[in-house]
Amino acid sequence: MKVAVVGTGYVGLVTAVGLAKLGNEVIGVDKDINKIDMLGKGKLPIYEPGLNELFLSVLEEGKLDFSTDIGAAVRNSDVIFICVGTPSLDDGTADLSQVEEVARTVSENLDGYKLIVEKSTVPVNTARWIKRTIELYNKGKRVDFDVASNPEFLREGKAVYDFFHPDRIVIGVDSKRAENMLLELYAPVNAKILVTDIPTAELIKHASNSFLAMKISFINMISDLCDKTGADVKMVADGMGLDSRIGRAFLDAGLGYGGSCFPKDTRALFRIGEGYHLDFELLKVVDRINLKRIEKFIDKLKDALWVLKDKVVAVWGLSFKPDTDDIREAPSIKIIKELLKEDAHLRLYDPKAMENMKRLFPPDERVEYVDDMYSAVDGAHALLVVAEWGEFKDADLSRVASLMKTPVVVDGRNIFEPGEMAKYGIFYCGMGRGKSV
Ligand code: UDX
Repeated sequence: MKVAVVGTGYVGLVTAVGLAKLGNEVIGVDKDINKIDMLGKGKLPIYEPGLNELFLSVLEEGKLDFSTDIGAAVRNSDVIFICVGTPSLDDGTADLSQVEEVARTVSENLDGYKLIVEKSTVPVNTARWIKRTIELYNKGKRVDFDVASNPEFLREGKAVYDFFHPDRIVIGVDSKRAENMLLELYAPVNAKILVTDIPTAELIKHASNSFLAMKISFINMISDLCDKTGADVKMVADGMGLDSRIGRAFLDAGLGYGGSCFPKDTRALFRIGEGYHLDFELLKVVDRINLKRIEKFIDKLKDALWVLKDKVVAVWGLSFKPDTDDIREAPSIKIIKELLKEDAHLRLYDPKAMENMKRLFPPDERVEYVDDMYSAVDGAHALLVVAEWGEFKDADLSRVASLMKTPVVVDGRNIFEPGEMAKYGIFYCGMGRGKSV
């Protein structure tokens, strides 16, 4: 099938490359000329494990191309995937202006039947607005198109795997033609396909992400009680997770959730519920618990160091989670801001996200970027673990302890074991793990 993917961000790119790999002819479209230029030259603007090899192979097979001309892409395609951003407005509602702009452009280029597919996370009933916009800009002239919802469930850092091995594919349609086209498109993917009406599919996405965010805030709430009582939140999570109705995944206490999805999706869903005068306060509490993680984390550092002014603080992990270079809503951003307010000296290390972070916090006399995790701790008064990259878990702790000026580790992602740290004389604070001596 001929497919246009509008928006070449983390979701759009994986979707475009994945659909090309499934044998479709795909055109990736974006307004950002620099990004399209880079992609046209075979260079990825993002880091996503496994994407580069796949990207180069489908480019070579001539299955994937890129353009800034969305009109031509629409005219030359049977299916148009909307993968543009739907960021939060100040009050938490989703900003749908990019979606609306795509709908307008599609309406001006409908030269035959087209299937327009919402891949971006959108509030329930957005498809109705897309449909209405296309009809409105065609001034009521009869035009042949369908709108469908096909939400993405890609986890950054595992997005390529998730594209080809999804737990489920959700297809929200209101015509047999749209249903058949999407079933054909995903036929090569061996996964459970759930066909629903469109609003249901749109809501499955928001509900899933908000539920996962709630699970994380729940275990973080429990981890605060563990800090007070000496219980071990990891073991509590293990005990809870053995109940098949709960499941262990997404019960890792720590600095909470960041990224471009959970924070905005929980706020957007709260606003949607509020818009219907429903009591969605639960989601507000989920967000509030999450925002408090940073303050609790900094308090642990202050407990250990007393005064932060002029202290050298190493930070391991700047991305919002491991295996990505994405720093959107990353806990590291608030942590860096807080530490700079305290006049600490920061030594930052991340395997992939440093270039992105330098755009927010350029190197200066208080902000230093280093090339490896050991340089970060050399002479440091404290080490903060903020994103749990694999290499940090394998760190040589005796080397870390000997390099540090004062061996203090505040572990925001509970990657170390308290008992293990005591062996190296490290003053260790986890999140809900109690304190080592
Ligand atoms: C999420 C959803 O998992 C995915 O299905 C959806 O399509 C997009 O949003 P992503 O945001 O990429 O994916 O990452 P995810 O692995 O879900 O983690 C989200 C955040 O929660 C990260 O900041 C992570 O550090 C945090 N997290 C995750 C926890 O704090 N504890 C956990 O147990 C799991």
